[in-house]
Amino acid sequence: MNPNLSDLLTRTDSIMSGANGWHPDPDLLLPSGIYRGTVHAGVDLGTAYTVLIVLDENCQPIAGEYQFAEVVRDGLVVDFVGAVDLLRKMKSKVEEKLGFTLTSAATAYPPGVPQAEVRATANVLYGAGLDCTGLIDEPTAANNVLQIQDGAIVDVGGGTTGIAIFENGKVVYTADEPTGGTHFSLVIAGSTGSTFEEAEALKKNPNEQTRLFPVIRPVMEKVGTIINRHIQGHQVERIYLVGGTCAYPGMDKVVQEVTGIETVLPGNPLFVTPLGIAMHN
Ligand SMILES: Nc1ncnc2c1ncn2[C@@H]1O[C@H](COP(=O)(O)OP(=O)(O)OP(=O)(O)O)[C@@H](O)[C@H]1O
Ligand SMILES: [Mg+2]
Repeated sequence: MNPNLSDLLTRTDSIMSGANGWHPDPDLLLPSGIYRGTVHAGVDLGTAYTVLIVLDENCQPIAGEYQFAEVVRDGLVVDFVGAVDLLRKMKSKVEEKLGFTLTSAATAYPPGVPQAEVRATANVLYGAGLDCTGLIDEPTAANNVLQIQDGAIVDVGGGTTGIAIFENGKVVYTADEPTGGTHFSLVIAGSTGSTFEEAEALKKNPNEQTRLFPVIRPVMEKVGTIINRHIQGHQVERIYLVGGTCAYPGMDKVVQEVTGIETVLPGNPLFVTPLGIAMHN
């Protein structure tokens, strides 16, 4: 596993929450606003969050933005105009922080998404004024960050649970199933009589998470059951959790209980895949 992982994720958290200490080398900044230095940008169009992250030449985060938006569902662009509009706004906010114009980025797709849909994802970038210079599947992106040789990376996002099994550093099996953070929120909405938006907020509020744990535990167990079904026939000795939903305290313990396999939560799981996408640009 990446020996600098915990540092990298801590730094990413601080950049994504607005920290800004980076400045472009003035000698490499053209009057047109184009930067001649090396930077890497990545766009993750998720079911719940659209994320834009920019890294420096050493693949360390220097600026980023993320926004809740329902423009993509499980890898399929469901609101093209909305997605382009959102990304263009996020791009210009990030450019303001950086002091130069972003010209290209990489993006990603969940395994199993048809090629036509992958092209639609790339077209969102072009529409927002970014050359799409890299397309990568999400588990491989996550593993750019985690750098595991063997084990399963499980990405529990807003809409789906993606599973990728790695052997000797290569993906040997992938699956994607429709259970994710949205289901957590729906269960909370049902049991507390709140709207979906209120339930989302309750779910992410650390002061509510202990009280709500028994309510969402069955959904966590379902994620564990899904993992069990897909790792049948593979020698998986460790499970690595990524994706925003895995930030709910206790998720790693429940998955470990249901699967009987050591389960690791590597820091804040929300930005692992977006970081790995940027590394691909
Ligand atoms: N602290 C938190 N505790 C619990 N859930 C969280 C927390 N932070 C974010 N989430 C949930 O994580 C989900 C979003 O995660 P992520 O950004 O990985 O998904 P996505 O990439 O948008 O979706 P998908 O991969 O399914 O397309 C949302 O359901 C959100 O409510
Ligand atoms: Mg995702």
